[in-house]
Amino acid sequence: MKVLIVGGGGREHAITWAVSKSKRVDKIYAAPGNAGISELAECVDISVMDADKLLSFAKEKEVDFVIVAPDDPLAAGVADVFLDAGIKTFGPRKNAAIIEASKAFSKDLMERYNIPSAKSVTFDDVNAAKEYLNTVKLPIVLKADGLALGKGVLICNTLDEALAGLDEIMVDKKFGDAGNKVVIEDFMTGREVSVLCFSDGTTILPMTSAQDHKRAGDNDTGLNTGGMGTFSPSPFYTDEIAEFCEENIYKPTIAAMKAEGREFKGVLFVGLMLTPDGPKVLEFNARFGDPEAQVVIPRLKNDIIDVMEACVDGTLDKINLEFEDNAAVCVMLASEGYPVSYEKGFEIRGLENFKDKDGYFAFHSGTKWSNGKVVTNGGRVIGITAIGDDLVSARANAYKATELVDFDNKYMRHDIGKAIDEQ
Ligand code: GLY
Repeated sequence: MKVLIVGGGGREHAITWAVSKSKRVDKIYAAPGNAGISELAECVDISVMDADKLLSFAKEKEVDFVIVAPDDPLAAGVADVFLDAGIKTFGPRKNAAIIEASKAFSKDLMERYNIPSAKSVTFDDVNAAKEYLNTVKLPIVLKADGLALGKGVLICNTLDEALAGLDEIMVDKKFGDAGNKVVIEDFMTGREVSVLCFSDGTTILPMTSAQDHKRAGDNDTGLNTGGMGTFSPSPFYTDEIAEFCEENIYKPTIAAMKAEGREFKGVLFVGLMLTPDGPKVLEFNARFGDPEAQVVIPRLKNDIIDVMEACVDGTLDKINLEFEDNAAVCVMLASEGYPVSYEKGFEIRGLENFKDKDGYFAFHSGTKWSNGKVVTNGGRVIGITAIGDDLVSARANAYKATELVDFDNKYMRHDIGKAIDEQ
């Protein structure tokens, strides 16, 4: 089987690694891929948004199976282009990816189908939104409706902050058209958990749980990022909570999408808050999380192609999804200055230390080849993942392994998985 993976970050590197282990796969292409992915796949320099070129390439190479991994192409309907051309494609159609692409849509869906979430009101008029703010309890959460690279959510502690945040989103258009509408949501407290679920539109199979660390600095300080590290499983996501979520969140969401004529096939990422009143949905994404994928995928026992194909074919009920009884921690090595401004192009040393090192992974997020060397090419550069028998040993292994890789301006958090100590 020939597989084309659309994307070029750490999530796609983890997916490529899993696909490369499938006995069913003879050849992998990645568009555009990155330096790490190029060790496992043939990378082709086509933008993830260029559906026409991607389709021509897939046809020319007689690709059998396509995986569209990132949010932007899914929201833009890139999976639809392949599916309509008769190519088996993993990833939801545009009309289902809206569950991530529009917060207003997902909040409305949850309200209409009684899926637990924080109370919210959606506005397309800034003055009406400001008036509403005068009535809310602080802190309050502002969410730009559309995709904003994970930066469109503002937690505001004062009314002045919230009013300024509304202006940023709706008037200054800091996130472009993503800010045409804003969702104003009550603030929730509790432990955050990410649960990625495979779905074929009818059946939904949750994967093992994970937790992300979104802030740039230690102890959750600094700006929001795409994710500075993850651990899996989350010790706070008990069997009882998992059962509640399955019955009250995962299954009802997939059924709701089907009832709306928006059959969801792919990975439904459920961002949960374990509040004192029970688990509630913080957000839905229409794809694997990044860097959640870097700790969940290495623990998957199944052939990932078997599972993904079952999602496309509608036969997920036949799959027995299994994960290793171990733990994984990923520490993101970033460029100093991320997520605001940072330099690129620095040589990355020590990657050879990860070759054939069982239980250790260097998943490339922002890297490229330059004059025969692998260099930094993004804010998030490499996710160092290590496996351990339990979370404590996985964390120790991961931090030790971060010392094996070096580049100028290397930056990381030092407290990934610290919450493990509090259980
Ligand atoms: N790690 C959060 C996300 O992938 O959106």
